[in-house]
Amino acid sequence: MNFRSDNEAPINDLILQAIVDANQGFEESYGYDNYSTLFTEKCQQLFQSWCEVLPLTTGTAANSIAMTLACPPYGSILCHEHSHMNEDECGAPEFFTAGAKLIPMPGKHGKMDLDYLDQYLAGAGVHGEHESLPSVISITQCTEAGTLYSLKELETLKTIKQKYKLSLHMDGARFANALVSLNCSAAELTWQAGIDLLSFGATKNGAMMAEALVVFNPDLTKQIKRLRKRSGHLISKMRFISSQLNAYLKDDLWLKLAQHANLMAATFKLQTNTNIEFIHQVEANEVFCRLPISLIKHLKSLGFEFHVWPGHDDVIRLVFSHATQLDQVEKLVNTINHYSN
Ligand SMILES: Cc1ncc(COP(=O)(O)O)c(C=O)c1O
Repeated sequence: MNFRSDNEAPINDLILQAIVDANQGFEESYGYDNYSTLFTEKCQQLFQSWCEVLPLTTGTAANSIAMTLACPPYGSILCHEHSHMNEDECGAPEFFTAGAKLIPMPGKHGKMDLDYLDQYLAGAGVHGEHESLPSVISITQCTEAGTLYSLKELETLKTIKQKYKLSLHMDGARFANALVSLNCSAAELTWQAGIDLLSFGATKNGAMMAEALVVFNPDLTKQIKRLRKRSGHLISKMRFISSQLNAYLKDDLWLKLAQHANLMAATFKLQTNTNIEFIHQVEANEVFCRLPISLIKHLKSLGFEFHVWPGHDDVIRLVFSHATQLDQVEKLVNTINHYSN
């Protein structure tokens, strides 16, 4: 029973079938296929805006190419200290940008402290050319703590971005989970909230290595295609990525899959004993909770798989996915409740 990661979940059947359906004869390569054209059209409809769209195979590539577009080598990227870009991409954003500096920002529950961010930016520049030029703010939505920036918090971020003339990037590895939880439109959650670039994830929510970089700000798209090629991410048989992304969006499949994942997490929260401490609010498909170490060992011995959070032997992360089954959640809940009673 896997609660370790949505990366470990299988591919959704309809998405897998879309790959098979796309496997007919020959198609133009390197993004000039009909599936990729259709995906761009679908994104423009979904976001109700012009946008440049790059289908990609990893979220790290989407984040890193986004940073290349928004940040010069002498620039800096403001991101949460525990963001994927800062902790889990092995320096890829720095590498792609030819040396831009990541500036980790503090903040509770996976979200940047926006007052701190504002103060930091107000103080930037005193060292003149000796310091990197703040160029882009990157947020993760849903955050690595499974929480969400509310639309109001995004409004504050937009004000900060405008005040200091920065770009705003959203790492949306779990964008669908955020969207269904906030119950707003894709436009409201992105360019209307000041987002210039979105890493639009699909892999965790049912696709097979299918992500996209969506750029809403035309000023940032200069030589975007060359930058993609130069980074080794221009996929020759792009139809097999784009066909997945089309199936992902078709008939709101992506929203249904995310709704299911979020519902499984909410069910877990609702049904577990009230004396369990939840470290962060459960707002999407990830749950962090504190359990007795003996119970953690017991759960592992019964075959429940999850991560014990590094540095916290009594904190576990549970990730619920599009493929998590209700009976598995119930088994987990019952085991925990029985043990804690
Ligand atoms: C928040 C977040 N961003 C980006 C990624 C990028 O993932 P990958 O490069 O493994 O596709 C992940 C993967 O776990 C993630 O959780």
